[in-house]
Amino acid sequence: MEFHIKSGNPEKQRTACVVVGIYEPRRLSAVAKRIDDISKGHISSILRKGDMEGKAGQTLLLHNVPNTLADRILLVGCGRERELDDNQYRKIITKAIRTLHETGSMEVVCYLTELNVRGRSTAWRIRQAVETAQSALYVFDQLKTKKESTRRPLRQIVFSVASRRELPRAEQVRREAQKIAEGVKLAKDLANLPGNICTPSYLAEQAKSMCTLHENFSCKVLLENHLDRQGLNALLAVSKGSKVPPRFIVLEYKAAAKKSAAPIVLVGKGVTFDSGGISLKPSKDMDEMKYDMSGAAAVLGTMSAAAELQLPLNLVGIIPAVENLPSGKATKPGDIVTSLSGQSIEILNTDAEGRLILCDALTYAERYNPDVVIDIATLTGACVVALGKHAHGLLSNHKPLTNELLNAGKFSGDRAWELPLWDDYQDQLESRFADIANIGGRDAGAITAACFLSRFTKKYHWAHLDIAGTAWLSDKKEKGATGRPVPLLMQYLIDRSSGNDIYTLSEPLEY
Ligand code: BES
Ligand code: MN
Ligand code: ZN
Repeated sequence: MEFHIKSGNPEKQRTACVVVGIYEPRRLSAVAKRIDDISKGHISSILRKGDMEGKAGQTLLLHNVPNTLADRILLVGCGRERELDDNQYRKIITKAIRTLHETGSMEVVCYLTELNVRGRSTAWRIRQAVETAQSALYVFDQLKTKKESTRRPLRQIVFSVASRRELPRAEQVRREAQKIAEGVKLAKDLANLPGNICTPSYLAEQAKSMCTLHENFSCKVLLENHLDRQGLNALLAVSKGSKVPPRFIVLEYKAAAKKSAAPIVLVGKGVTFDSGGISLKPSKDMDEMKYDMSGAAAVLGTMSAAAELQLPLNLVGIIPAVENLPSGKATKPGDIVTSLSGQSIEILNTDAEGRLILCDALTYAERYNPDVVIDIATLTGACVVALGKHAHGLLSNHKPLTNELLNAGKFSGDRAWELPLWDDYQDQLESRFADIANIGGRDAGAITAACFLSRFTKKYHWAHLDIAGTAWLSDKKEKGATGRPVPLLMQYLIDRSSGNDIYTLSEPLEY
């Protein structure tokens, strides 16, 4: 999809379709009003006849509107003007884009970016419109032999801004949004791929091909014998039961003004299929455990978007990639291993495998003397119970980092919610036979999982994003990966790229 920005009168657009908003009840947006005046009341007379109320998500396609140059005008219901918030805005854009795609308009000029969204700037509206439009048309049909094709697909969207003064900034945001949307798409594609295709070595190949694509990028992949020699035994304990070998992927992107600046390290859980191991999961919905590498996918999506935008930062991506299966060689409940950190771990449940591969990756991260480390993991069912599909769980040992991530989430619409990482919960991880157990009982499962990780992150500022509920949707009609938290991470990185003012920083919500 191509996106452009423009400022101009709606009646003068020579295009397949001009898209304008109608508020409830039957109230014209400023741009709709302008077309109405020029067409001598064409729109208002249609509304009077009762064809459209303006409820959010309603649409009405008009042809031959007098005194306008476009082939069509699409009216889009926006709900009540005062109630137009972030979610409503995204819903409206999604509906408009899908309607255009299905009604033969290949290039359009969309004025919905001029609507007033509560507390939000023009820059925010453009950013969200581009990202939302891109995901509204996302399909994963790589593996279907008969693809559903649209005869006249939507190819080009021009988003409008009200004044020419806003053009340079809107253009900048458009560019960012497009790269973020590509990162989201990459993350979705990887997570949607099944476990028999997207294996640890497949992820490694993806990482390597990213390196050849981008400047300032390097990639290294550690194989099993190397991991064994180095002592990443917690990771190897998970991988042992499977015939596909593990991969430990390290990506480096170096573009900070100061080459030696401490890097931001992103660690992504890359379990390409999680059966639970000997602590086997129930078979219902087990197919969804192919998404258990969504953290890894988010790291790849974020790093490639950051490189595309040439953010002036030093980044490291670490992806421990394994498959968790039962077999005669698999780790058993009660087995004890010595992690890379030297701490011994009693593996009481082989289904709590994410923390085992992450703890070694987090110890490995120490060698980069990181500025901060953020891990991203589909870590616990408990986090899904606590926060559902809306917010990532966020736990951190550093308050400023917490706040930066929460803010990036609010601005990008990819929100996180903080859970406590109090010492009070640490007791639940006590083991009778080793330094620490890998499970902490039924209570506060998302928190005790993070407490486990916190034992391996004492040497640096660290945050953990539990994306078990947010990385994919289970409902039948929208089943699939979401590409989250790429938008949050990208916003965090953009915010960290300041010092130069060319990127669009998070703005506080004001109303
Ligand atoms: N990958 C799962 C977490 C998960 C569950 C993600 C449901 C998405 C949806 C993780 O490896 C896991 O199995 N966690 C266990 C931990 C438990 C054994 C302490 C869980 O949450 O049940
Ligand atoms: Mn598991
Ligand atoms: Zn898992």
